[in-house]
Amino acid sequence: MKLVFNTSEIITVNANGKGNKVKDEMQDLGIVPKGAMIFDEKVHFIGSEVECRKYIADNNIPIYEEINAHNKTLMPGFVDAHTHIVFGGDRTKEFAMRLRGATYKEIAAMGGGIQTTVKGTREASIEELYKTGFELAQNAIIHGTTTMEVKSGYSLNFKGEIKQLEAIKHLNNNIDIDIVPTFLGAHDFPLELKHDRDRYIDSITQEMLPYIRENNLAQFCDAFIDEGYYTVEEGRRVLNAGLALGFDLKVHCDELADVGAAKLAAELGAISADHLLYINDEGIAAMQKSGTAAGLLPGTAYFIRLPYAPARKLIEQGVIVSIATDCNPGSCFTENMQQIMSLSTINMGMTAEETVVASTLNAAYALKKQDTKGSLEKGKDADFILLNGSSYVDLFYHFGINHVGSVYARGKKLV
Ligand code: NIG
Ligand code: FE
Repeated sequence: MKLVFNTSEIITVNANGKGNKVKDEMQDLGIVPKGAMIFDEKVHFIGSEVECRKYIADNNIPIYEEINAHNKTLMPGFVDAHTHIVFGGDRTKEFAMRLRGATYKEIAAMGGGIQTTVKGTREASIEELYKTGFELAQNAIIHGTTTMEVKSGYSLNFKGEIKQLEAIKHLNNNIDIDIVPTFLGAHDFPLELKHDRDRYIDSITQEMLPYIRENNLAQFCDAFIDEGYYTVEEGRRVLNAGLALGFDLKVHCDELADVGAAKLAAELGAISADHLLYINDEGIAAMQKSGTAAGLLPGTAYFIRLPYAPARKLIEQGVIVSIATDCNPGSCFTENMQQIMSLSTINMGMTAEETVVASTLNAAYALKKQDTKGSLEKGKDADFILLNGSSYVDLFYHFGINHVGSVYARGKKLV
């Protein structure tokens, strides 16, 4: 086993076995001042250095590595529960058009946006898709991410969606952090079936979902229920088919307009409902009741210049709030959770403590991984990072730089 000691503080985010934190619980980070930790792939003991050394002696534990953390902050690695990092093509030109005044909706209406990436992804080989995902995931790790969800949804046909999911599987096999795969065939409608939407939905429910389940290519089924994309009824068809086959649900909800998607997500018992820029009160109440996590993506509001999701209201109403990057080539191109955490505090009104919980324990809950990820507690995976500064507040105070000095996943040093 290994011992890390001499930290300035350990942020455990301990919830005493509870899988998430809501309301005022989010202010409590379970801090152990000057803490030390005994770990292998799992966390074994957290306490003061004296307590750790006593535990080692009392239990005759062989320690083969001691890590002097030199006044650094030790905390759980970030869980990025919403990304689209496996894609082909290039949207640089569209981004420049947006800077000249075109809106995200206008570019989509011109046939660009998601459809540009669909074209690029269909044309890309599985190796090219893997390489793009690998580079983004590596960079995410350098910035402190130790668990990452990745979605398909940029091919919109059987062959291409499976190719994307195979690339994601390959990524999971070749990278030391956990990659959680999500099927997002219902991201948009393919141009060739634009006027026969039901036929495409049939192909999702009758061909893609059964094949993906049989080959274990995704844990979650997702749908983009929003103005200009899937209607609530279309989304319901896709998600119900997913549920019937045993998929867990995540849903893109009410990003561009209030269409009542959050309420549907709650009604179907989705693990998370994401975006929520235009969520209504009914949706908030339903999510609180169903325990559906809010996956807030402030980088998207920033990047496409939309109002931020009502984070304060969601927290005050008792919804389980998590945050993620939404890393994708169109609406938010960053794989850096620290950037998203900065936006969550300054622009979305969350406290530093709420933001830490939202990017660790509550984000693990949004992936149904609260039993192994998201906090440092005995028996959980030793997924942790060392921040160069002596306080977690530095993450927000000294913004725009990378605070992460070391990254460990399942006890293995990656950075
Ligand atoms: O999560 N909201 C839907 N889809 C993606 C963006 C898709 C794109 O522009 O490529 C998102 O924001
Ligand atoms: Fe997304």
